[in-house]
Amino acid sequence: MQIKPFRIEHYFGKYEFTTRYLLSSSDAESRTVQELLDLEPGAQECLLKQRCGYTESPGGPALRQAISGIYRGIKPEHVLAVSAAEEGIFVFYHALVGPGDHVIVEIPCYESALEVARSTGAQISEWPRRYEDGWVHDLAALEKMIQPNTKIIYINTPHNPTGLLMPANVLQHVMKLASSRGILVFCDEVYRELEHDPANRLPAACEIYERAVSLGSMSKSYGLPGLRLGWLVCKDAELLARCLEFKYYTTICSSAPSEILTAVALRHREVLAQRNREIVLRNLPLLDSFFRQRANLFEWIKPNAGPIGFVHFKPQRDVFLFCEDVARKAGVLLLPGTVYDQPHHIRFGYGRKNMPEALAHLSAYLDAQA
Ligand SMILES: Cc1ncc(COP(=O)(O)O)c(C=O)c1O
Repeated sequence: MQIKPFRIEHYFGKYEFTTRYLLSSSDAESRTVQELLDLEPGAQECLLKQRCGYTESPGGPALRQAISGIYRGIKPEHVLAVSAAEEGIFVFYHALVGPGDHVIVEIPCYESALEVARSTGAQISEWPRRYEDGWVHDLAALEKMIQPNTKIIYINTPHNPTGLLMPANVLQHVMKLASSRGILVFCDEVYRELEHDPANRLPAACEIYERAVSLGSMSKSYGLPGLRLGWLVCKDAELLARCLEFKYYTTICSSAPSEILTAVALRHREVLAQRNREIVLRNLPLLDSFFRQRANLFEWIKPNAGPIGFVHFKPQRDVFLFCEDVARKAGVLLLPGTVYDQPHHIRFGYGRKNMPEALAHLSAYLDAQA
């Protein structure tokens, strides 16, 4: 298997733990183990008594029950637990496609959605969205890309990096295009439940199409990436069984303590998501007015979901060098759009409590440069 370096994770690997202020993180504010255990009477005792043995490969019954509770019409047997979304992406593509197959991937995207697909030997078509067009989804272009051997369409909503929800009619249209041809839809929904207005929540792909797989994770909306726990959900038992076959070669099963903590967290997920929504809604107007005050440098389409947004960087400067300079001199981590092949953009994250402080440091840096 040949695979390209993962530029997003490489950049974070270099700066995430050495830069004081994280102003581009895609995970919302986290919690301690104690805070999770305090959510439910008896949880602490249960965790302490848990044997550190193997767990069931598809996920233990309590975990699959808790995950299925997020969705409408989904039963525990429709759930395959994975060691966070990253494993879900790897397992899904490698289990289901290879040379001779064709995969369509919405871009810009979280890099593994594209590169893991490519690493299977499948032929890849990129379905682009552009800032200049308001990040709209060009459905006619998608339809034209479909080939007789198209096996998967990958979409992502709420979207990394724009922080935008796919409009409901677009989601329906994608499902129609796919279902009329028996194509699988792989829908990355790791930012689901952090819609800025919960009324705008879309149905999960697995709820509305038998051959759609929804990808979920504890990492983002709930702020618990350290649990390394995610899931693939699909009503088609055969698809899920093939993913499970592949999982036997990656992690076999999830971490036993993480399964317990995840099940507790999911039984109280509204508390977690609501606290993070409050942080995001407090931070977003500050960030928006910062961009307006600095309209000579930045412009964006304001996000409506999740804790990230993708900002057009107006100066004719190398955005990668700019972000590196900000990290080194201001101690503020921004993510250059070059890691998404978008050299005139920067990803901002606003899901952390200390975002106003991070923004003040970025402001001071920009003033000093001016
Ligand atoms: C859209 C998207 N999918 C998947 C992942 C991987 O998340 P996890 O921490 O659950 O592996 C990320 C992480 O940034 C992401 O943004």
